[in-house]
Amino acid sequence: METSHGGIPKDSRGGHKRTREIIRKALTEEKRVSTKTSAADLVTETDHRVEDLIVSELQKRFPSHSRFIAEEATASGAKCVLTHSPTWIIDPIDGTCNFVHRFPTVAVSIGFAVHQELLAISMRTWPYQGSQRLYELSHSSWDLKGRQLEFGVIHHCTEERLYTGRRGQGAFCNGQRLRVSRETDLSKALVLTEIGPKRDPDTLKVFLSNMERLLHAKAHGVRVIGSSTLALCYLASGAADAYYQFGLHCWDLAAATVIIREAGGTVIDTSGGPLDLMSCRVVAAGTREMAALIAQALQTINYGRDDEK
Ligand code: IPD
Repeated sequence: METSHGGIPKDSRGGHKRTREIIRKALTEEKRVSTKTSAADLVTETDHRVEDLIVSELQKRFPSHSRFIAEEATASGAKCVLTHSPTWIIDPIDGTCNFVHRFPTVAVSIGFAVHQELLAISMRTWPYQGSQRLYELSHSSWDLKGRQLEFGVIHHCTEERLYTGRRGQGAFCNGQRLRVSRETDLSKALVLTEIGPKRDPDTLKVFLSNMERLLHAKAHGVRVIGSSTLALCYLASGAADAYYQFGLHCWDLAAATVIIREAGGTVIDTSGGPLDLMSCRVVAAGTREMAALIAQALQTINYGRDDEK
C-alpha cells in the first residue's frame, strides 16, 4: 500500500480531487434539498453522489474491505455497526447546511477503524509505513472494544486544505505538522461547538444554557461554524482550545479523533469518561484539564446512539 506524509495510505482519500471538483461546482449551483431527522438536517443529491463515488473508489482500491459506515447510506436505513472487519467511516459532505447556503465551510471526512489483531495480520502483508512501530504501541489507547481508529483524512474542499492523521505517526495539514493549544484555563479559551439537528424548545434551552455556562465561566468566545469536522480540525491546529457537541455522529468524529489525538489533544465523552464513537456526543480539547472543565460545565442533550438507530 503506497503511503504519503504521515503514513496515510495514498488511496484512502477516496479520490479527493474528484470529490472536490464535484462539491465546488455544485456549491454555486441550484440544489435539490431534502430533510432527514429535522428541518435543519439537510441532504442534497451531491451528498449522495459524493458518497457513492468515495465508496466505489475505496472498493476498487481496497477490494478486501467490505465494511462502510457512510452518512447517507445510514440515513437510508443501513445499520451503523462496527464489526471486527476493517471499516471505512465516511461523511461525504460535512456542513451540508453551509453547502446549501453557499457558505464555503464544507469538508469531506474519511476515517478508518480496524481491529488490532487484523491490523497485525495485515501488517505482514501490507507495506504500511512504520508498521513495526504500530505493532509495538501499547493497547492503552484502544477505543471501540478492541477496534482502533487507525487513520483519518478530512478535506476542506473550498480552501484546499487536507488534514491527515495516522495513529502513532502525527497529524498534518498539507504536510505541516499540527499541534493543539496547551491552554488549561477556561477563562482564556476559545471554544467551538455545533448546534446539532434537534430544534425543539427543550433541546434549544439546554443548548443555549450550555453556551451561557461557558460564557459565565468567562471563556473568550464560543463559535459555531457549521461543520463539526472542520471545527475539530481547527482545534487540532491550535486555532481553538476546546470543542463540544451533542448530536454529531460517528462519521463526524472518526477521522477528526485521530487527527486531534495525533496533534496532542484529548477526545472524551461529555460525561468526562472515555470517548464512545457511537454515543453522538463529544468533548475535545488541547489539554485534559480543559476537556475536564468543559465536560463538568455541560448539561446532557440526549441524541441516542448511532448503533441503535
Ligand atoms: C453536521 C454538521 C453540523 C453539526 C451536525 C453534523 P452534516 O454534519 O457538522 O454542523 O451540527 O451535528 O451532523 O449533516 O452536514 O454532514
